[in-house]
Amino acid sequence: MIYSRIAGTGSHLPEKVISNFDLEKMVDTSDEWIRSRTGIERRHVAADGETTVDLAEHAARRALDAAGVRPEDVDFIAFGTTTPDLVFPNCGTLLQRRLGCRGVPAFSVETACAGFMYALSIADKYVRCGEAQRALVVGSETLSRITDWSDRGTAVLFADGAGAVLLEPAAAPGVLSTHLHSDGVYKDLLYCGSGVSSGFADKLAISMAGSEVFKIAVTKLGQAVEETLAANGVDRTALDWLVPHQANIRIIEATARRLDLPMRRVIVTVQEHGNTSAASVPLALDVAVRDGRIKRGELLLLEAFGGGFTWGSALVRY
Ligand code: ACO
Repeated sequence: MIYSRIAGTGSHLPEKVISNFDLEKMVDTSDEWIRSRTGIERRHVAADGETTVDLAEHAARRALDAAGVRPEDVDFIAFGTTTPDLVFPNCGTLLQRRLGCRGVPAFSVETACAGFMYALSIADKYVRCGEAQRALVVGSETLSRITDWSDRGTAVLFADGAGAVLLEPAAAPGVLSTHLHSDGVYKDLLYCGSGVSSGFADKLAISMAGSEVFKIAVTKLGQAVEETLAANGVDRTALDWLVPHQANIRIIEATARRLDLPMRRVIVTVQEHGNTSAASVPLALDVAVRDGRIKRGELLLLEAFGGGFTWGSALVRY
C-alpha cells in the first residue's frame, strides 16, 4: 500500500504590511473592533505587479528546499487559488514553467478558501495510486485585488500570501484521509460577482453576508472535524494540532471547543496574516513547522471553509 506524506513545507508573504491602524485611516473602523471581532491585527498585501504566481514560486521553492527535491524533479502540481494571474494558462502551469518541470500535469482549482484542501486531496490520490512521486500542492492568493478597500465589512478581513507542501510516497501515512464538500445553495452569501462568461462589473470585489457566513462556517467546520476523526476511528484526544483556516479567531475557537482542544494546541496566524483564502492553511502549517511547534510524527487536523460554500478537512501524520 502506498501513502503520501508531507516531505516539506514552505510559505511566502509579500513585504507590504497594512495594520489595523492603517485601515482606521481608510474606512470607518477601529483596531479594537477588528481585533475583538476577528483577531486580525495586520495583514500582508502584494505590491503593484506582484502576482499570485510570484508569491507561489517563493513558497514552492521553500517547500522543495525543505524536502530536498529539485524544482525540475516535481512531477505533479495542484494549485489552489481564487485570484489567478491570467484567465489561462492556469497558475499551476505558470508555476511549472518557472520551476522548469516541463511536461508534468499542472492545474489550478478554484474553490475559494478550501482551494488548498481540494488540491491536497487530489494530489494525495495521485501519489497513492503511484502516478506522482513528487507532488507540489500550493495555495496562493492576491485577494487584495478583489477587495473593495472602501467597504469596512470586507476590507479588514482579506490579505495576500502563499503556502506549499511537497508530497512524496511513503510506506505509512502521511495523509490519512481528506474530506471535501460543497453546497452552491449558499452562493449569494459569499461571492465575487464578476467573470469572463458573465461579464466584468466596474469594480471586482468580494460580497459577503458576514454573520450568516460565520454561523454556517462554525456548523460545517464542526461537522467536518468530527467526520474526519470518525472516518479514521481516531479519538479527539489523539490530536496533537488543529491547523485551521485563518478567517476569524472566533470561528477557530469554536472549532477548537468542538474538539475539546486547548488553544495552545491550535495554530493561529490570523493576527499576522488575515484571511489569505487558499493560502491560509499551508501558511499556518509552514509557520508552525518552522518555529518547531509541529514535529515529525504528530497528528494534525487541517480544515478550511470558503465561498461556494466549499469546505474540506484532512487528517495528517506529519
Ligand atoms: N468596523 C467597525 N464596524 C463594523 C465593521 C468594521 N470593519 N464591519 C462591520 N461593522 C459593524 C456593522 O455595520 C454592524 O453595525 P450595526 O450593528 O450598527 O449594524 C456591526 O459592526 C456588527 O456587524 P456584524 O456583521 O454583525 O459583525 P460580526 O460580529 O458578525 O463580525 C465578521 C463580522 C467579522 C465579518 C464576521 O461575521 C465573520 O468573520 N464572518 C465570517 C467571514 C468568513 O469566515 N469568511 C469565510 C471565508 S472567506 C472566503 O472564502 C474568501
